[in-house]
Amino acid sequence: MQVDVFTLFPEAFDWFLSQRHVANALAAGHEVRLTSYRDWTELSGRQVDDTPFGGGAGMVLRVDVVDAALRGFYGRDSLEVRRERRVVALTASGRVLDDALATELAAEPALTLLSGRYEGFDERVVEHLATDAVSIGRYVLAGGELPAMVVLDAIARKLPGALGHEDSAVEESFSDALEGGPEYPHYTRPASYRGWDVPEVLLSGHHERIRAWRLAQSRARAGRGKSG
Ligand code: ADE
Repeated sequence: MQVDVFTLFPEAFDWFLSQRHVANALAAGHEVRLTSYRDWTELSGRQVDDTPFGGGAGMVLRVDVVDAALRGFYGRDSLEVRRERRVVALTASGRVLDDALATELAAEPALTLLSGRYEGFDERVVEHLATDAVSIGRYVLAGGELPAMVVLDAIARKLPGALGHEDSAVEESFSDALEGGPEYPHYTRPASYRGWDVPEVLLSGHHERIRAWRLAQSRARAGRGKSG
């Protein structure tokens, strides 16, 4: 999979890209390319934003700047780019990211993430240049860099080879294997600590009982039933 991230702060991704599961995904042939809007803007002083029409606080990322960045980076018209790959604008008002959306995006061969800044994008970016608007939750952050990393992280975990153990992503929270429910609790050594004991079933070596217990725990956490 190839993911291109448009941002004002490419260096903000350095730490994230060095994380093991991301590095594994990159080593397995997946690709993340970062580009700065400032490197493509045709405005003087490398301007990328402007004050909002109608007044109000903050600055808005300009539609002509995002258009120039897409055109410059891909070497063709942005509307063509939009037809070829999903172009995701990260905005607090977008479709809220969940496991189903992460799975959907992870299945794409190529993806473009547009990070906003300040008060966000000129709405025409979302309307005309992007195919999707995605939010990581109903709260407003100062920029789209953390949301882009959240989306990348959720996707990277689903790519073959990213996690050490192939099953790790199959049975994690909100996956189909757990009926869309939250993940069951995990325990590791010591089996007993300060009198806090690991549930006996997990030490039993009885795989079918363990599987049933975990599913019951997941259901209980979802408030859909009692744990067994
Ligand atoms: N940009 C600012 N806040 C955001 C959010 N909650 N999700 C996605 N992008 C954002």
